[in-house]
Amino acid sequence: MSRQIGMWLYGNGGGDKIQQKIVKKLKERDIETVTDINLRHAVAKNGHILHDKLRVDELDLFFSYNAGEQTQYQTFLYQALNRVMPMINSYEAFALTEDKFQTSFMLRQHGVATPSFKLCHRDDTHHLKTIMQKWSKMVYKPTDGWGGVGLTKIENQATLDMLLPFLNQMDIRFFYVEKFVKYDNTDFRVDIVDGKFVACYGRKASGTDWRTNITSGGSVFLREPDDEVIAIAKKAAKVCGTDIAGVDIIYDMEKEEYVVLEVNGIPAFATPEQEETGLDFNKKKIDLIVDMIDRKTKK
Ligand SMILES: Nc1ncnc2c1ncn2[C@@H]1O[C@H](COP(=O)(O)OP(=O)(O)O)[C@@H](O)[C@H]1O
Ligand SMILES: [Mg+2]
Repeated sequence: MSRQIGMWLYGNGGGDKIQQKIVKKLKERDIETVTDINLRHAVAKNGHILHDKLRVDELDLFFSYNAGEQTQYQTFLYQALNRVMPMINSYEAFALTEDKFQTSFMLRQHGVATPSFKLCHRDDTHHLKTIMQKWSKMVYKPTDGWGGVGLTKIENQATLDMLLPFLNQMDIRFFYVEKFVKYDNTDFRVDIVDGKFVACYGRKASGTDWRTNITSGGSVFLREPDDEVIAIAKKAAKVCGTDIAGVDIIYDMEKEEYVVLEVNGIPAFATPEQEETGLDFNKKKIDLIVDMIDRKTKK
């Protein structure tokens, strides 16, 4: 019997074209693709997960690549499917990389440098005051955020004192904070697929923001990585168990070392506009993904 996989890939920013190319290349290898399987519209019924009339659980693999937060319902089904079939990324890797604390913890456990961080219970804010004295500046991060949203730079003790009552009012259980790293306001985004280096580009923060995210006004530029940056990204992707990863790295000017900020489990392909500026890694990335799907579905 021929192979059949399911896919859910974002359609904006050129994603629709990427999808067509992946489907075509898989077809050349005798692999059929059912696209647009959004688990939001699936139902679990006894031992099966149904999307329209399709039994998603009977596919040979599921490729989930749609940016943006998923609802608890979607992740429930993601987790269930992951128990019975190969998924890219695996549910474990997806869940890990969705959480900045869990990711940093794993990275540090495995000797990958990150900014110093601390997680404390919301009732233990005295820890934050002590740590503030040591770090002098810190960043408060929602552990499940993206696009720089919700990140708050805390510059001094007074700001911390002012902020704490607000944070306490929000329904949060814990504080995740990082030492504010002195860096040159540029980062490296390194894409890794199947353990192999795909591409690197940089992002530069706008003059008015300390974050490099595009949504915070940052801009993308071509950037040649050195071997060390590539090695760190490969290791971070491996530690997180991600088949596909976009690793965010900055250079800590005080410690004089690269630190990993986060691992992205659904790193965007280059948009058509970015491709025009010379960011030409999409073909390589597609080929590596197709190779990997082929290998993981070999019968
Ligand atoms: N500890 C830190 N020190 C200095 N800048 C940071 C730190 N953490 C994050 N940033 C800046 O904020 C941006 C967003 O942080 P990141 O952890 O990647 O979260 P997000 O998921 O929102 O992109 C980074 O690209 C970087 O420019
Ligand atoms: Mg980021």
